[in-house]
Amino acid sequence: MSNAESYRGMNVSEFFAKHKEVAGFANPTRAIYQTIRELVENSLDAIDGSEEGRKTIKPHIKVVVEKVEASGRGNEEKTWCKVTVEDNGIGVPYTVMPNAFAKVLFSSKYVLKQARGMYGIGVKAAVLYAQSTTDSGIDVVSSTALLEDVYSRKLRIDTLNNEPIINAYGSWKKPTAWRGTRVSLVIECDWARARSKVLEYMARTALIAPYVQITFQTPEKELYIFPQKTSTIPPPPKEANPHPHGIDVETLKQMLAATKAKTFREFLERDFQSVGKKSSLYFIRELKKKVKEIKEDTPPAEVYQKFNGLLSTIVDMMKTFKFKPPQSNYLSPLGEELIVTSLKSMYKPEWAAAIRRPPRSYQGHPFIVELGMAYGGEIQPSEEPLLLRFANKIPLLYEVGEDVSYKIMKEIDWRQYKVEFPAPLVILVHVVSTKIPYKGVGKESISEVPEVEQEIRNGMLELGRRLREYISSKEREEEVKTKILAVSKYLPEIARSLVVLSKEPHSWKPPKPGEEKEVLLGLIKLVSSHVKLPEKESSEEVIRKILGVKKSGQG
Ligand SMILES: Nc1ncnc2c1ncn2[C@@H]1O[C@H](COP(=O)(O)OP(=O)(O)OP(=O)(O)O)[C@@H](O)[C@H]1O
Ligand SMILES: [Mg+2]
Repeated sequence: MSNAESYRGMNVSEFFAKHKEVAGFANPTRAIYQTIRELVENSLDAIDGSEEGRKTIKPHIKVVVEKVEASGRGNEEKTWCKVTVEDNGIGVPYTVMPNAFAKVLFSSKYVLKQARGMYGIGVKAAVLYAQSTTDSGIDVVSSTALLEDVYSRKLRIDTLNNEPIINAYGSWKKPTAWRGTRVSLVIECDWARARSKVLEYMARTALIAPYVQITFQTPEKELYIFPQKTSTIPPPPKEANPHPHGIDVETLKQMLAATKAKTFREFLERDFQSVGKKSSLYFIRELKKKVKEIKEDTPPAEVYQKFNGLLSTIVDMMKTFKFKPPQSNYLSPLGEELIVTSLKSMYKPEWAAAIRRPPRSYQGHPFIVELGMAYGGEIQPSEEPLLLRFANKIPLLYEVGEDVSYKIMKEIDWRQYKVEFPAPLVILVHVVSTKIPYKGVGKESISEVPEVEQEIRNGMLELGRRLREYISSKEREEEVKTKILAVSKYLPEIARSLVVLSKEPHSWKPPKPGEEKEVLLGLIKLVSSHVKLPEKESSEEVIRKILGVKKSGQG
């Protein structure tokens, strides 16, 4: 018997077909959640893709999950679900449809732009799961604003070659100015187990994208409508050039080979962000101290070919040189107002606040952390805060224990902020960046990048302080109200006695009804000037309410 190893290569689609759990398709429960998530997130990116379109078309996503008969095919004990997601986003040109939906690692998002999609894997991982569980592919119908027809394709992935297989074509004239995309797939699913997680996902997506109307039909034919909560649509994210601090040798090589710049200096200014005329000049001067041959007007191709061995020197210098920080105006956070509005409409708390931390960067990627906090009201008290995690406007539901925000939340001593558990507390953390530091392709948790961690911690502590102020002022108010209540009880009696005492002793007799009213009003004024309520409510009104006395002139 030979003990020689047998070697062979594997292409990327075969890899994801064999290792489904890597992309979040570990079992039929997780798979239905992940499929919906990948499709909805592509739809949201497509809606954010056109600023013009979003002004005229109310963004809308429709999600339908139906049970499909799996019996008669020897699969009685298994459940199949058909998932259909439709959006009115930018649509997909028919020429790229096959690759976009049936070639792993094909994407329009391999640019530096804040987007939900990043890897070029999402929808294809769902297709591979459909192929391996129900032996079916994906149906796509789409049109863009410029096309006069609607195009349909039935697609599968050739896993041996990672190439699309087109099983059916179709096209028809557009009856209306429709643009958008509808995709459906049939997968093995465990709907009963996934149901609550999927509903939570929908609700949280609606919370973080309140400018989109989302409708969701379950296999039980229940219809959930998450209406558009605001027509203020945040500006769409813009594409950015890389920042020199985030560059590595491979990226630099690719950029030098692809640039249209004629000189090295022009290359620095044109192809990078935060490099201006002065900084490019100073940078080259510094560089010359180590690589004498490089000049301002050296053509980029020459830098690539001639100085190949020295590219790592250039990269090291780029990483340490003091360029301006990465620009955050390419990012599209949600804004404090939208966060508070969403928290209020979802949880009906008695108090809610939000803050946006100043823009920062890690490894050359700009990022912004926004946080929200809601307390009391209809929030169910629980043993730890309910943590809502979001990244680039998508909710993260699994792997909470792995996430940097969870770690920070657990480290904080909430008693310092007057919160005793069980408490009705919701914390929302939203990170936006041109690159979210996810822990895996399934995009469920964020890693402990020190810069990101610091911003989340500072934000959480700041909101904690604001919550403490609110709780303290509420406590003060309660105290004063108790005092007012205690004092108010005696005021009518005192007023009556004062009226009697103000007369000569021989005419002392009980006052006529209403005779003591002016004195009582005076007393109320006097007492309220001593016991002031911290909130807007005036203590004078409160006492009058308790005693059922109207102001003079009000009868
Ligand atoms: N609903 C849609 N509307 C418009 N374009 C879409 C839609 N769905 C998919 N696409 C296109 O197909 C491409 C591939 O999608 P896929 O989900 O596989 O990867 P991705 O979104 O780029 O990255 P990720 O793996 O992180 O999800 C997208 O980059 C996008 O260009
Ligand atoms: Mg995607």
